[in-house]
Amino acid sequence: MDVDADGIREKLLPHCRLKPGESWRDHDRGHIVACGDAADGEFVRGLFSSERATLAINDPPYNLVMFEKQSVEEYIDWCREWIAITYDILTDDASLYVWLGADQNDNFQPLPQFMLMMSETPFAARSFISVRNQRGYGTRKNWMAVRQELLYYTKGEPTFEVQYTDIPKILRGYYKEVNGTVTENLERGKSPNIRPGNIWVDIQQVFYRMEENVNGCYGQKALRAIQRIIEASSKEGELVTDFFAHSGTTLIACERTNRRCVTVDIDPIFAEITIRRLERFRSTGKTGWQAGNPFQEELAGKRPSRSRAGSL
Ligand SMILES: C[S@@+](CC[C@H](N)C(=O)[O-])C[C@H]1O[C@@H](n2cnc3c(N)ncnc32)[C@H](O)[C@@H]1O
Repeated sequence: MDVDADGIREKLLPHCRLKPGESWRDHDRGHIVACGDAADGEFVRGLFSSERATLAINDPPYNLVMFEKQSVEEYIDWCREWIAITYDILTDDASLYVWLGADQNDNFQPLPQFMLMMSETPFAARSFISVRNQRGYGTRKNWMAVRQELLYYTKGEPTFEVQYTDIPKILRGYYKEVNGTVTENLERGKSPNIRPGNIWVDIQQVFYRMEENVNGCYGQKALRAIQRIIEASSKEGELVTDFFAHSGTTLIACERTNRRCVTVDIDPIFAEITIRRLERFRSTGKTGWQAGNPFQEELAGKRPSRSRAGSL
């Protein structure tokens, strides 16, 4: 769906519940999926009524090859708009994570320009995380590009819950005296596993054999990465937002961790996929379609079966 093969968009659009400017409200848990422009302040602010979010996880298109490319200045001006809206809909003590790309064939844009733009906002920079992909890209004349950049900013003093990987601590030998007894680092630690730090090497990039895979969503992030962010930077019952829903990963992660989610996508097809992914998760426990796809019934000429959990 990211690439419009065989005019597939025309076939899928009639099956999408939301038109631009509309939203779907989930009756079970209070999530909202909306179809609209993240830079449209009136529309986005209107989704939040009186409650604000404690966490935003925004994963915009990166001004790279997949989406229509614009000048880096235009791209940053657009980012400035949705960043200002994000600031407004966050509580006084909140976190913002932004996934961003750096085009190594074009002076690493837009990452440095984005960082400079953020330095002029009231957000405080907290961490520059790199997530290691298993598959990379690039020629054999360069280092293989395997990094995804993830920026962490804060507003006020938000919650931060330390997270652990599944990787056991193996390094011993950092001795320190505690209350007159010499202790070794493993005894002093809170967990036998290591913390992810700001380089995450333990997260499997989504590919077609994984259950969580949503075919046609090439920008899909790993559920485990988003869940880690949510568990570190929000509490149960709180409101989390994502202005670029795509395959709906943030929504599924919120559902699994008892948070509520307000998520937006400009494209009715991705807004529909996001709603369907939640419905599928609730009815089957599956987090994606693996090798299948969210519109398989329509593409096979069948009437889709739909839950009644939400309304427009
Ligand atoms: C990189 S993807 C997000 C991937 C997502 N984190 C996931 O795991 O599936 C970016 C999404 O932003 C959407 N988008 C592009 N421009 C937008 C805009 N102005 N407002 C809202 N969504 C937009 C695209 O349709 C696309 O689905």
